[in-house]
Amino acid sequence: MKASPSVTDLLGTIEIGQGNLASIGAFAQDRLGGRAKRAFLVSNRKVFGLYGQTVEASLQKAGFSTATGLIGDGERFKTLASAEKVLAAMAAARIERTDVVISLGGGVVGDLGGFAAAIYLRGIKHIQLPTTLLAMIDSSVGGKTGVNASFGKNTIGAFHPAAGVFADVDCLKTLPEREIVAGACEMVKHAAMSGKGLLKRTKACFSDRKSLFSGENLAALVRENIAFKAKIVDQDPFEDVKRTDGRSRKILNFGHTLAHALEKATNYRYFRHGEAVGYGILYAAELSKKLAICDKQDVELLYDVLHSVGVLPSLAGIEPQKVFETFQFDKKNISGSLQMILLRGIGRPEIISGDQISSKTIFSTLEAFLKLQK
Ligand SMILES: NC(=O)c1ccc[n+]([C@@H]2O[C@H](COP(=O)([O-])OP(=O)(O)OC[C@H]3O[C@@H](n4cnc5c(N)ncnc54)[C@H](O)[C@@H]3O)[C@@H](O)[C@H]2O)c1
Ligand SMILES: [Zn+2]
Repeated sequence: MKASPSVTDLLGTIEIGQGNLASIGAFAQDRLGGRAKRAFLVSNRKVFGLYGQTVEASLQKAGFSTATGLIGDGERFKTLASAEKVLAAMAAARIERTDVVISLGGGVVGDLGGFAAAIYLRGIKHIQLPTTLLAMIDSSVGGKTGVNASFGKNTIGAFHPAAGVFADVDCLKTLPEREIVAGACEMVKHAAMSGKGLLKRTKACFSDRKSLFSGENLAALVRENIAFKAKIVDQDPFEDVKRTDGRSRKILNFGHTLAHALEKATNYRYFRHGEAVGYGILYAAELSKKLAICDKQDVELLYDVLHSVGVLPSLAGIEPQKVFETFQFDKKNISGSLQMILLRGIGRPEIISGDQISSKTIFSTLEAFLKLQK
């Protein structure tokens, strides 16, 4: 059995366009080879209100019968309880093994819908229809699905790669500015690891906000981001814990050590995840500079691009000690040793074991960074 689709398989299942939402039905038929009769849409009230009608009409035109399961809006609804309600609605709609779940929404809907598809009747096909920038370039690609539990975020889940990813960047026209900035920060993360070319194209696309949706730039950039993530995932589909090379799936966690700590220190209420990643990228770059492995110019370029994608919430009042303590609980903490993803330069990520950096350096760089960003 094949563990995961290869990068070419994966890219062949992805369609990113502009103004193409009404062709989701044809895409789904094409991806499922005409076997699926019913399409079960997972969404939330807000996104379904905006795009549900178009999606349903297109699916019906392509010969699917449709049913819908709506979950609450927000991270706090990404739970087993919501998943169970969705599973019950799928059973009530008589969804069969050959049918398909389509997640219409951001990463919360995508993760939960994918998880429901992974466990319903031991697994049925799933199509991602991401409607946030973050979901288009990150969460819909790579096969990680799941929900949060009382004992941690994303701690219950399954690898269940989507049978297809379909997106219309015009859906981003209704997305609030903060969500655009949050997704763009994850794009800067990809670009920092990919190379200067992608970094410059990211800056060019986002600095001129008025023309974000004119021309093909945004759709092309989304495709490039997906291709980058898909290539990394393809080489390390299950995130091998032993790997520490610069192409391990772990490098996708660049900027996430500080991001998770900032989110936790503010009780997950202050930052959008991508905003915290924005700060995390800059802190990792500062640490790389401090360890003399990354040039000052590369760090400055990263600041420049990140600032060009939007404004992040202030870090005023955030205690360095509190943030530092939560580093110890980082998910990438293997056998008690923290692993940090740093940069040898733009396009050259490196996984550095915590043993190679003193706690004093980690803390003093953090303290200086938080002070500088206030
Ligand atoms: N599976 C993975 O590999 C992976 C990777 C990264 C993040 N994630 C997960 O993704 C989630 C975050 O996703 P997100 O940032 O998309 O947040 P989200 O799903 O909460 O969406 C953000 C907000 O935008 C709204 N929205 C969505 N599309 C819209 C549109 N087109 N117009 C107007 N409003 C719209 C949503 O209703 C929500 O209020 C987290 O749960 C995170 O754990 C998963
Ligand atoms: Zn992230």
